[in-house]
Amino acid sequence: MIATTKTSIQAAIETNYDRAQELKAFDDTKTGVKGLVDAGIARVPKIFIQPPDNLNKTTNPSNTQFSFPIIDLTIIDKDPIRRKVVIDEICEAAENWGFFQVVNHGVPESVLEEMKKGVHRFYERDSEVRKEWYTRDVKKAVVYNSNFDLFSAPAANWRDTFNCSMAPKPPNPEELPPPCRDILMEYSKQVMKLGCCLFELLSEALGLSPNHLNDMDCNEGLAVLGHYYPACPQPELTVGQTKHSDSDFLTVLLQDQIGGLQVLHQNHWVDVPPTPGAFVVNIGDLLQLITNDKFRSVEHRVLANQVGPRVSVACFFHTGSLPSTKIYGPIKELLSEENPPKYRETTVRDYVAYFRAKGLDGNSALTHFKL
Ligand code: OGA
Ligand code: NI
Repeated sequence: MIATTKTSIQAAIETNYDRAQELKAFDDTKTGVKGLVDAGIARVPKIFIQPPDNLNKTTNPSNTQFSFPIIDLTIIDKDPIRRKVVIDEICEAAENWGFFQVVNHGVPESVLEEMKKGVHRFYERDSEVRKEWYTRDVKKAVVYNSNFDLFSAPAANWRDTFNCSMAPKPPNPEELPPPCRDILMEYSKQVMKLGCCLFELLSEALGLSPNHLNDMDCNEGLAVLGHYYPACPQPELTVGQTKHSDSDFLTVLLQDQIGGLQVLHQNHWVDVPPTPGAFVVNIGDLLQLITNDKFRSVEHRVLANQVGPRVSVACFFHTGSLPSTKIYGPIKELLSEENPPKYRETTVRDYVAYFRAKGLDGNSALTHFKL
């Protein structure tokens, strides 16, 4: 009995040891999943093979059963009646889906196209140059690596990412990678403007004054992430991004035409249809926390795909790892005897630190902050 136990412990240690070695070897290449694909890999290495739970493909059998909300932001500034309609649509989507797409949002099509091209350029130029940006030091202005949670998650994702902190402390342009330097500056400016407008609409949807969420500094920080999902030789064994909800207040995402992003809606994985010129907007954990569960931060994932590379640009409204003393808890105006606070107060930094340390393990970070 004792001998058996020893043997299985030994086996476990050996397995973990191999895995640790493989993770380190992969990280040391500094070229990410793109590097594996460039080397002509025909099978998905073991470190990327997901536990069966993360692979369940219970996709909504008829994706037509649900129609993913698309909200048209045309003339909301000039027409108060139209503005009220849009606020109601946003409220409904934020409560029931946690997700919606926006069109006619005011960001020029050329800026969207150039941003996607910029992400391609960053990954597709010389790998020796790209390597220089590879780091896990979250204090850097640009953090490029494969899998922020490589060493803590149960399995790695088929994805590489660069993360640039663009607000509140914009980097010097020289600190940004030349292949996407100019467009990152322009894109962030445009997304910040759109974000402020969305926070106004969301404030009104909560029955608060339009400036409420912006006055709370929900729009203070902006991180722009350039994701790269290379074509995958065995997409049934891994995922582009494990099921998760976002740790921020709000996410504004630009995806290309390939698809693969899915949202968990009424227990079905529903595709987020690539819509030309649109942004995908979703409520993050911190907005769910301060709205005391009125708006929902919904789980989503990205499937791996034989077709690729897919690129997406995710803009997270939060201040990330910056020192923060500001305390966030459920908004007092939304609370009542029937609706007591459901979460304890936290800072953005503490929330994000907890989220990052936990990694994408399939569980929500919000639970940890529940009262
Ligand atoms: C994210 C995310 C989806 C995508 O960055 O949190 O969910 O399509 N991205 O890249
Ligand atoms: Ni996400």
